Amino acid sequence: AQTYAAGLMGRRATVPFRMDELELRAEATMTPEAFGYLRSAGAEATARANRNALDAVKLVPRMLRNVAKRDLAVDLFGRRLPAPVLLAPIGVQNLAHPDADLATAKGAAARNVPMIFSNQASVAMEDCAAAMGDAPRWFQLYWTRSDALAESLVRRAEACGCDAIVVTLDTTMLGWRPVDLGHGFLPFLNGQGIAQYVSDPVFRSMLAKSPEEEPLAAAQLFTQIYSDPSVDWTRLRKIREWTRLPVVLKGIQHPADAQRAAEEGWDGIVVSNHGGRQVDGAVGSATQLAACVDAVAGRARVLFDSGIRGGADIAKALALGADAVLLGRPYIWGLAIDGADGVTSVIDNVIAELDLTLGLIGCRSVVELGREYLA
Ligand code: FNR
Repeated sequence: AQTYAAGLMGRRATVPFRMDELELRAEATMTPEAFGYLRSAGAEATARANRNALDAVKLVPRMLRNVAKRDLAVDLFGRRLPAPVLLAPIGVQNLAHPDADLATAKGAAARNVPMIFSNQASVAMEDCAAAMGDAPRWFQLYWTRSDALAESLVRRAEACGCDAIVVTLDTTMLGWRPVDLGHGFLPFLNGQGIAQYVSDPVFRSMLAKSPEEEPLAAAQLFTQIYSDPSVDWTRLRKIREWTRLPVVLKGIQHPADAQRAAEEGWDGIVVSNHGGRQVDGAVGSATQLAACVDAVAGRARVLFDSGIRGGADIAKALALGADAVLLGRPYIWGLAIDGADGVTSVIDNVIAELDLTLGLIGCRSVVELGREYLA
């Protein structure tokens, strides 16, 4: 409500409120290569399907339910979060802003919204954690070809105060990215987005010379080993020997995978198709959400991403049964426009819309938001 009132009373909006405008303003701050990488999603069939799937979900407002007081807080893995929103792991943030992950860390910490540190970050997780005080953070892992390196990354995440580990399953190889291919642009080969690795003792021990002496060799090794297409359910279990933190599997789309994740005792899943960046032609992520929620049947926490562009989308995901959502590209657009403040502004705007939507559909708490609010 404060955000809305301030907007009406002429507070300088640090970022546009409309998402299409937000993206355009962000684009204007970047090189075509950088913007191309951030947007990149094949021919964008799945990116469109993500939006169509959310647009197809319809809320049905209820009246006269005394919604003067509303509660957006959720409990997730032992923490009370101010809203059911986390920042999705997004790599190579230096493409959007020179302060990169450090600005995102500060922008998220200002609202106690968890930031999920990317495996492909531009800033080492320890440096981001140091900028966040007690604010919540998680770490996202791609399962590297070296289990010793994966273990090292997970142990570092635990040591720098992460509340959970997200293992992203959908990027065993990078998807077909015609825009980046056309630009001849893979940021990792320029040494971007490899900060978690060059700061890692196990990775450094795999190189003949240090990354400072031979940056190209480090970048090449990174691109060869950062993810392993041979990983399977059995290998994944090793992570339980490395950490007692909750483990969340990101990239689940099929209810049978959701069911197996729950049966095997994994702590959570993220129903996600990576914002349409991996399998172009895949189903819209929201189309799969309800079936995945039902397959999990309360045994694990269910998070959702891919296509969320505002508070009403979050309300829809929660009504379908998600416990929380990850915000993806929108906060990167805020970062590009106004650094840490831009990230905070996008968070504020999205949460403000969620609060209004909740009240206007006659629901007092995000925890009570269920399918009875859907057409
Ligand atoms: C991503 N995403 C991602 N996911 C992940 O697990 N590790 C990563 O390093 C990255 N990197 C990354 C870079 C960029 C530029 C984008 C846009 C996305 C996927 C991300 O976590 C999330 O799933 C999507 O962004 C959600 O879709 P929307 O909200 O962007 O449509």
